[in-house]
Amino acid sequence: MKTRITELFGIEHPIIQGGMHHVGLAELAAAVSNAGGLGIITGLTQRTPELLAREIARCREMTDKPFGVNLTFLPSVNPPDYPGYVKAIIEGGVKVVETAGNNPQQWLPALKEAGIKVIHKCTSVRHALKAEAIGCDAISVDGFECGGHPGEDDVPNFILLPRAAQELKIPFVASGGMADGRSLVAALALGAEGINMGTRFIATQEAPVHDRVKQAIVAASELDTRLVMRPLRNTERVLNNQATERLLQKERELGSQISFADIAPEVAGVYPRIMQDGEMDAGVWSCGMVAGLIQDVPTVQELITSIMAEAEALVLERLAGLVR
Ligand SMILES: Cc1cc2nc3c(=O)[nH]c(=O)nc-3n(C[C@H](O)[C@H](O)[C@H](O)COP(=O)(O)O)c2cc1C
Repeated sequence: MKTRITELFGIEHPIIQGGMHHVGLAELAAAVSNAGGLGIITGLTQRTPELLAREIARCREMTDKPFGVNLTFLPSVNPPDYPGYVKAIIEGGVKVVETAGNNPQQWLPALKEAGIKVIHKCTSVRHALKAEAIGCDAISVDGFECGGHPGEDDVPNFILLPRAAQELKIPFVASGGMADGRSLVAALALGAEGINMGTRFIATQEAPVHDRVKQAIVAASELDTRLVMRPLRNTERVLNNQATERLLQKERELGSQISFADIAPEVAGVYPRIMQDGEMDAGVWSCGMVAGLIQDVPTVQELITSIMAEAEALVLERLAGLVR
């Protein structure tokens, strides 16, 4: 399948694996790229720019296909060494960067000069238009269904994607709630030129996380996610667990007085314990409503092959048959 996204990134299938903290390591990124999609290493999961440089080199040993690096800009008192991370990306010869969390304008000149394509992930049409105006090459439009940070506007993809299609000139992919060939065809129908998936890629053989994480996603229904940190305007969609319930209880009790310090036990530094050690109630962790559509743990190759086969059959047989 050829779209402006496959052309822009030099990939075979219009399927991207979004950056995921402590999930987007070289193993997963390389598996996605080898299967013809675009794999993405999560920059900030590597504690220093030197470690990111090493992770990029490790990924290159596992694939000769294009892959990207995610740079998430977080509100932070002590910001990470972003100039160092950008340098590691450029010197590592990476050709795609997925930015998220905040306006990437300050980093665009250096990335552009190095010939790097930038896909900015955002949750509203106004932020997408801003990213287009400052020179991003593509957008990942993240609907309210998504795992991770859906923003504060709460617009689901059935509205957000066609609105993006009305306004944007640069290509965009649909992110949030994407799982299979049906998702891809629907995304294309709504104006997107591909899909970005997070949660679905965690439940794959190659995802370098504890098996209990994969089984938790398989076991979850579409009713099992919760929105946390709303009062802090840092909303995150997470899987419901004991830590989530504790955090929501604190939100109810403390109301608008709540601060990050109050919820640090549930959110700070919990990802390695969950993703690597499989301590499923150690803290809150991002998960999309799409968990309700995930019932297996295939290899990445099996997943991408089945998405493309299902999408093609849907277009050529079911949909073409309806209008014949
Ligand atoms: C466990 C997990 C961790 C994530 N970490 C990040 C991150 O560090 N940076 C980022 O930009 N997006 C992050 N995301 C969001 C994904 O890249 C993607 O946009 C989102 O998962 C799409 O929604 P879906 O889960 O319904 O596919 C994360 C998502 C999950 C599920």
